[in-house]
Amino acid sequence: MAITIPDEMNAIVLDEPGGPNVLHLGKVPTPTPKPGEILVRVEASGVNRPDIMQRKGLYPPPPGASPLLGLEIAGTVVAHGSPVAGTDFPAIGSKVCALTNGGGYADYCAVPASQSLPWPEHYDAVKAAAIPETFFTVWSNLFTTADLKKGETVLIHGGAGGIGTAAIQIAKAMGAIPLTTVSDPEKGELCEKLGAIVINYKTDDFVEKTLEYTDGKGVDVILDIIGGPYFSRNLKSLAMDGRLVIIAFQGGAKAEDVSLTRLMTKRLHVTGTALRPRSTEYKGAVAQALKSHIWPLLNTGVLEPIIHTTFPLAEAAEAHRLMESSSHSGKIILTHPDQN
Ligand SMILES: NC(=O)c1ccc[n+]([C@@H]2O[C@H](COP(=O)([O-])OP(=O)(O)OC[C@H]3O[C@@H](n4cnc5c(N)ncnc54)[C@H](OP(=O)(O)O)[C@@H]3O)[C@@H](O)[C@H]2O)c1
Repeated sequence: MAITIPDEMNAIVLDEPGGPNVLHLGKVPTPTPKPGEILVRVEASGVNRPDIMQRKGLYPPPPGASPLLGLEIAGTVVAHGSPVAGTDFPAIGSKVCALTNGGGYADYCAVPASQSLPWPEHYDAVKAAAIPETFFTVWSNLFTTADLKKGETVLIHGGAGGIGTAAIQIAKAMGAIPLTTVSDPEKGELCEKLGAIVINYKTDDFVEKTLEYTDGKGVDVILDIIGGPYFSRNLKSLAMDGRLVIIAFQGGAKAEDVSLTRLMTKRLHVTGTALRPRSTEYKGAVAQALKSHIWPLLNTGVLEPIIHTTFPLAEAAEAHRLMESSSHSGKIILTHPDQN
């Protein structure tokens, strides 16, 4: 049966940067897949902190990317762009989840085929959409950038968030020992269940606790989302040859009171990365690593995305309000209307 693709589609649009109120359902042209891309009829899409930043006008899409929000989707492949050497297209009609370059909050999304993966076995759209952004980010940072190894310790800040719940599970599954920071006992309980040693950063000093749990040695790797206010304390929490990877600065981008002596005497490595502007080739390589190392664990239920709740696409503003309240644990997913 031929698939009819409309010229126009529903999407969450924003007329100007601002609070959640600027998000509303509108009509925009349906994207056409470029060479090497697939067009996916979106059934669910994930909400991520970078979407909040983009909505506020603080995280503009990279050149050439869709101006629409939405960094991850799950749905059905409905069209292929022209072929590109070395890129395999998933079949028309197959179910995929994908890391997008933007444009997930819409009926249709064009994504590089190499950034898509099949739904894990027995998954539905909601569970499949909860994987790409966090799993690609965590894999890329913990294993490519920080070279986290089996038996090493890793401190994951914000353990109950989307990134945090994925990072704890992936680190543990790969044989590392995850420690994590949370703001309350309920979030702590969830992270403990996922396999982390939990530190309540509201009631305890995370530096003291990290050193206590590692017999004074410090952790081998830190995945940080807080930035400036944690920088100096992160350096104190690292072991010799420790690696600090900063993927966000929710607390601010300026670090003060930094001891370079600590950096030198402990031979520390400090870096930061953003996944979205990286090349299609890089993201495709991460997809392949996930397929080899992580997909078998998703297929057998060893790993599972933690889903806090879902909202219909039209209620994207509500989903953003919830994320900004930080009262969620795990992922917030938008469900898209059935377009059959
Ligand atoms: N660089 C990249 O490529 C990249 C890619 C994706 C995401 N990110 C970044 O990663 C971060 C997490 O994204 P997400 O989608 O997982 O968001 P999320 O689900 O909202 O998680 C953020 C978490 O931060 C925690 N938090 C807030 N203040 C904290 C503090 N002072 N110490 C420790 N934890 C704290 C919150 O929980 P509590 O209630 O426990 O504080 C919350 O669980 C965001 O900043 C996002 O921009 C970066």
